[in-house]
Amino acid sequence: MLNETSMKFTDTTFRDGHQSLLATRLKTADMEPMAELMDTIGFHSMEVWGGATFDVATRYLIEDPWERLKRFKSLIKNTPLSMLLRGQSLVGYRNYADDVVEKFIERSAYNGIDVFRVFDALNDERNLEKSTTAIKNVNKHLQLTICYSVTDGGSMGGPIYTLDYFTNKAKSLESMGADSICIKDMAGLLSPFDAYTLFTELKKSIKVPLQLHTHYTSGMASMTALKAIEAGVDVVDACLSPLGLRTSQPAIEPLVMSLKNHSRASGLNLEVLHKASDQLETILKKYKTDLEMPRASIIDAKVLSHQIPGGMISNLISQLRELDALDKLDDVLADIPSTRKDLGYPPLVTPISQMVGTQSVSNILNGKYKMISSQLQNYLKGMYGKSPSKIDDELLSQVDSKDILNQDSRPADLLDPELNNSSEKVKEITENIDDILTYTLYPTTGMKFLRQKHGIDPILKDESQNQIEKSTPTISKNDETKSPSKSSNLKTFNVFVEGQHFEVEVDPVYRKPKITKDDITAEPIKDNNEKSDGEILLAPMPGTVSKYNVQLGDQVSKGDTILILEAMKMENALSSPKSGIVTEISFKEGDSVIKGDILAVIS
Ligand code: CO
Repeated sequence: MLNETSMKFTDTTFRDGHQSLLATRLKTADMEPMAELMDTIGFHSMEVWGGATFDVATRYLIEDPWERLKRFKSLIKNTPLSMLLRGQSLVGYRNYADDVVEKFIERSAYNGIDVFRVFDALNDERNLEKSTTAIKNVNKHLQLTICYSVTDGGSMGGPIYTLDYFTNKAKSLESMGADSICIKDMAGLLSPFDAYTLFTELKKSIKVPLQLHTHYTSGMASMTALKAIEAGVDVVDACLSPLGLRTSQPAIEPLVMSLKNHSRASGLNLEVLHKASDQLETILKKYKTDLEMPRASIIDAKVLSHQIPGGMISNLISQLRELDALDKLDDVLADIPSTRKDLGYPPLVTPISQMVGTQSVSNILNGKYKMISSQLQNYLKGMYGKSPSKIDDELLSQVDSKDILNQDSRPADLLDPELNNSSEKVKEITENIDDILTYTLYPTTGMKFLRQKHGIDPILKDESQNQIEKSTPTISKNDETKSPSKSSNLKTFNVFVEGQHFEVEVDPVYRKPKITKDDITAEPIKDNNEKSDGEILLAPMPGTVSKYNVQLGDQVSKGDTILILEAMKMENALSSPKSGIVTEISFKEGDSVIKGDILAVIS
């Protein structure tokens, strides 16, 4: 039975389009010249904010994400603006306390968001409760979202992700007060005929409008969108063709063309769409090399097995390159399904996709579950919510059973309010509530950004450059531009490895250790006795120092946490290799380190 109403489209060019294809690196200045034209097209809404835009703007672009939103709002006056919100995790990678959720939503609405698309990575309704109330309080459109996933093997069904699973979730979200419901298919796993079955069923049981968000990754998205339209979906997400296809959304133009003269024709003017795409082409010229792919195929037909969402593949590649382990990509992709199974088949979406991807990288490089990020430990404790199915017992034994949450209570109930504490932390720099939220969401990189925004720290030239972690393994010039000029403040460490003496020079700015092997072995240098029996703690991977848990001179036991290293978006607790005294702390909070950097010495 056909729905006779005209088809509506949400445009994702200003958010998911460039998040998927350009690692979210378009700046406000890139997009604002075409904002007013976009506003004339007649999109149902435009997705312009949320997801990774917040993190990337502060971390890489040194640009205030709140200013971007205000700017879009001033230019786009007719089309509702929408954002992607990760439920209790907002635009970050962990659950935040309720006071943060409430204030963040209030400020997002105030600064210009009309439609909040809210999801939880585990489809755990309890993680949507607080955002739901907060969005209702500011009288904005609440779109509750189900993350689409498949158990194994690539189609709807199996023990978990059945038609009943999705229908029951949708009913539950509708009863929570959703103004519309979105099926969010992060990795393009939803096949056309499954989409037809799913939306036909949802149309029967759900009264509020239904929307489809999918990605072209596997090559099915345009067909899936068409079958969903046939089954009566009300709104589909699409992107202007220059930033469509590949791991992004289906392109909007062919969908508009396909529906021409059909009962569900969109009424969108193709001429204006072409004009907007032409303008986007000129803007994207400077990113052309970043858009070029290492492979001839623009789709990844194998995504059905690893299920990694588009935006994450390029991250994975750049992380592996930084670790000098790009050749391990296939091993990592092969490890992902088994790690996901051990975790109880969570949908792979932020932040769980990062957690699983990073764990698989670590499994391949350090051994299966040899190193587990704080986030994954929290997942095992149930702090992210309820896993779709049982977590592997052996993996679960890695956390103390008394730390595992009673799943009757909402995970965020355990979190103390955070905003007062963060206002206190940044009060010397700013009293602006949006700044305080930025810091609360990203204490390390947010603080760095706020110090630059308020002119306390300079913006280094290569920091403000729009450096994209490329997915093509061919660039060496990029590596050179990343390294600041070499300083002469070399620090020398005497390091003994299996009885051999090495003199390690560490440059505090450039920081690439220069190692010279001493001819005279094993005889410790007298005035350096302390360091000679010291053990050094090296950075196992590149990252940012979140915080040191110890101070110089502290007595520590073997296994005590020395510092937290934020790497690949995960926090990793690095522990002391021996019992002793902390005799060297080599970095400070917020410093970036490369693999092999000496982080501390324990003597
Ligand atoms: Co998406």
